[in-house]
Amino acid sequence: MSESFKAILVSRDENKVQKVEEVELTDSDLMEGDVTVAVEATTVNYKDGLAITGKAPVVRKWPLIPGIDFAGTVTSSSHPDWKEGDKVILNGWGVGETHHGAYAGRARVNGDWLVKQPDGISARNAMAVGTAGYTAMLCVMALERHGIVPARGPVVVTGAAGGVGSVAIAILAKLGYQIVASTGRTSESAYLKSLGASDIIDREELSQPAKALNKERWAGGIDSVGSHTLANVLSMTSYGGAVSACGLAGGMDLPTSVAPFILRGVSLLGIDSVMAPREIREEAWRRISTDLDTGKLAELSTTISFSGIQEAARDIVEGKIRGRVVVEM
Ligand SMILES: NC(=O)c1ccc[n+]([C@@H]2O[C@H](COP(=O)([O-])OP(=O)(O)OC[C@H]3O[C@@H](n4cnc5c(N)ncnc54)[C@H](OP(=O)(O)O)[C@@H]3O)[C@@H](O)[C@H]2O)c1
Repeated sequence: MSESFKAILVSRDENKVQKVEEVELTDSDLMEGDVTVAVEATTVNYKDGLAITGKAPVVRKWPLIPGIDFAGTVTSSSHPDWKEGDKVILNGWGVGETHHGAYAGRARVNGDWLVKQPDGISARNAMAVGTAGYTAMLCVMALERHGIVPARGPVVVTGAAGGVGSVAIAILAKLGYQIVASTGRTSESAYLKSLGASDIIDREELSQPAKALNKERWAGGIDSVGSHTLANVLSMTSYGGAVSACGLAGGMDLPTSVAPFILRGVSLLGIDSVMAPREIREEAWRRISTDLDTGKLAELSTTISFSGIQEAARDIVEGKIRGRVVVEM
């Protein structure tokens, strides 16, 4: 019998009422996979908050260990790419949704889902980045592919004080962009400026129903909010600009018109981190290791222990978490 480890388990009763508890499990409780990893660090993303509070149908198999990302060391593998002792990162692929996730001492997954921890990035720092930060990098890469270079003009980042927003600002600043940060927490202006934002706007400016077109204010955008906010960002994007859309913290809808697309040639770039192919993930993590300042990463992240996960999950869905939360196991 293998050693037991602590895990968080989400289950449902016959009336579909969700229960979350801390339990002791062993390797035999884990799901199928060809690589077992000792989880060293994980994190609390917005999606993990939804999973633990049950506010959205993230968990789709019960009982389930939540947690969509982790960094750790391979303890056993029958996958050709991985061997005992390898340092790995996992983001997404349905882990923490339909496959047992990160909130446990060990995880067993499909080796195709893993990427190598880049040299110089510890497990802790990989999770300070986490899925939110890796998604921020995917958003930046999409803008670059669309030709949105710093010389084109400012880039707006919405949900700026959140996880995706904070990492996006730190990356864009290192790459030399001028950044407009939109936040509901203007009390965090000093924090956002220290990450590299040059202008702070109150998110109220972007939260009312959008005009078809508005004054051109930025060449690009990274939006983790959706709804009216994304519609306003699009209506204020300058000719030929582009907006990476990755989130729904403000709503799933998109009340916009075709005007920004057909009259200004603006592009809306959809970003999905969960099923992104391995080459794109590896490129994103390589770029994170070169284009994200570790001093800023330390500033935007706080560390909690395993016992703090449930509280952090409740806080993140209420918009109370600043930057990123790392869970050291
Ligand atoms: N597409 C993907 O693969 C992918 C990957 C990662 C995350 N996401 C999504 O991206 C979003 C952000 O994730 P996260 O981990 O960064 O979450 P987070 O840390 O909670 O950040 C979200 C931020 O959005 C702002 N916000 C919250 N509620 C709002 C509202 N009602 N109206 C306007 N702004 C609001 C807040 O920023 P301020 O306080 O600064 O206003 C909040 O900090 C989530 O929807 C998440 O599901 C998607």
